[in-house]
Amino acid sequence: MSAGCGPRAGRPGTSACGPPPTALQRLACGLAVQDVVILRNEGQIISLQRYKCAIATSLLAGMVHLLKYASRSFQEITSLLSLCGGQFSGEQEIRVYSPFWILNIPSEEMARGLMKRTVCAKSIFELWGHGRSAGELYASLKNYPTEKMLPYLQSDSTYKVHIHTFNKTLTQAQKIKKIDALEFLPFKGKVNLKNPEHIFWILEDYGMNPNDVPEEPIHLYFGRWIADGQRELIESYSVKKRHFIGNTSMDACLSFIMANHGRVKPNDIVYDPFVGTGGLLISSAHFGAYVCGTDIDYNTIHGLGKASRKNQKWRGPDENIRANLRQYGLEKYYLDALVADSSRPIWRKGMLFDAIITDPPYGIREAPRRMGSQKETVKSVERSTENHFFVSSSYHLSDIFFDLLKFGAEYLVMGGRLVYWLPIYRPEYTEEIIPRHPCLKLISNCEQMLSSHTSRRLITMEKVKEFKDQDENSYLLDGQYMPYRGHNSFREKYFSGVTKRIAKEEKDNQK
Ligand SMILES: C[S@@+](CC[C@H](N)C(=O)[O-])C[C@H]1O[C@@H](n2cnc3c(N)ncnc32)[C@H](O)[C@@H]1O
Repeated sequence: MSAGCGPRAGRPGTSACGPPPTALQRLACGLAVQDVVILRNEGQIISLQRYKCAIATSLLAGMVHLLKYASRSFQEITSLLSLCGGQFSGEQEIRVYSPFWILNIPSEEMARGLMKRTVCAKSIFELWGHGRSAGELYASLKNYPTEKMLPYLQSDSTYKVHIHTFNKTLTQAQKIKKIDALEFLPFKGKVNLKNPEHIFWILEDYGMNPNDVPEEPIHLYFGRWIADGQRELIESYSVKKRHFIGNTSMDACLSFIMANHGRVKPNDIVYDPFVGTGGLLISSAHFGAYVCGTDIDYNTIHGLGKASRKNQKWRGPDENIRANLRQYGLEKYYLDALVADSSRPIWRKGMLFDAIITDPPYGIREAPRRMGSQKETVKSVERSTENHFFVSSSYHLSDIFFDLLKFGAEYLVMGGRLVYWLPIYRPEYTEEIIPRHPCLKLISNCEQMLSSHTSRRLITMEKVKEFKDQDENSYLLDGQYMPYRGHNSFREKYFSGVTKRIAKEEKDNQK
């Protein structure tokens, strides 16, 4: 367990600890011995190797076809590009309300890397031409360098051409007509509809308004298909089919988006301080990271107590986080889950985690709480299981975020990311209420509506400055802390008569 590191060793992994430590050793070095609750993983962990992505120099004009949620797509793709060594530049054509974006990506390899991770983008294509009318598209295609086309149009190759129309359905005859109009392209290969070597797509954008579909497309594109995104993960990891779930288990799609915002990569260590049923560990483990978490709830960590499924009273014998990871063949990435209160970190000083990805309680479906002492004003004494009691006192939302940011600042590696959901009462929202810390840079802030007056924001922050003890509370003094004390009343506002009345009025209006 000690792995040769003293109780106050610096970041495990430095030469003071000898050879590079395994993920489990890094984790073990970080646990403060007096606070360890339990460490149950006996699995073997392979050694840590940093992931590198090759960057080629030639430019590839790619085009992504997106799923919904424009701002989250944008942030996901930005994060993934930077993970692969690329970056967004002024050359990208991002029209937030368009289902198609034009990106400049340094290589096809990078485009494939992006698509191996994204759940927001559907497909990526090498763009050969585009325009606001068929004429503009054909002119643009005639300008595309022939030497770039020829490798895919050889006489000994096979191909097929597809057409996709966004917000409009065409008849088969209309589709064939549009495909035939491309006969000026120097196709020399044979058409093979079943198993072609190269697939080309005509993509037509008829706008976003289903009640106002124009006769002609507002933009047309033609390109060579490169790769599809990972949207099938949303189905294969669906919470509905998951072994162990709770009332607040994180939706599979959002879990993958969060892991992508966190730029999780193989051999990382990812931590969730409000782990619940471990929904957020699963997506990180899928991307090859070692995962661990803590939660104040003994029953959740040990898979005991009442079941959240209909028609099932108690959790079954193998309903726990480990079983969830096993269900997806990811058990080898599971470090452990511990019972711990996030307001009292159990970790030794020193940077440990490559990413912290979490969904703190907002008090809507589960109460935020922390361990109380007998001396404190005790709100309740809960009997958790036969032998486990804890005294809980309420944990204000502002304190949860304050503690979370401080924890991230202290325990993330440099460049590591903190990704979490922040509940928002929309009428009072301004950017100022986003909690800040001098060691963490705000990377993105995307909204997901919960009701007409409430939403949650997916906040991504990156550690950009070493944590010094004097940073601990310094930012409380600079006036940034006061605004986010407003988060404390989120629960009251969510359930307030005002919100209910507005919701009722909206419902009445819809009738
Ligand atoms: C929104 S849920 C997280 C759900 C989780 N992402 C999942 O997929 O199941 C928040 C969790 O925070 C836990 N929690 C509440 N107060 C806590 C505290 N002080 N320390 C640690 N966990 C806490 C709750 O028990 C709950 O499981």
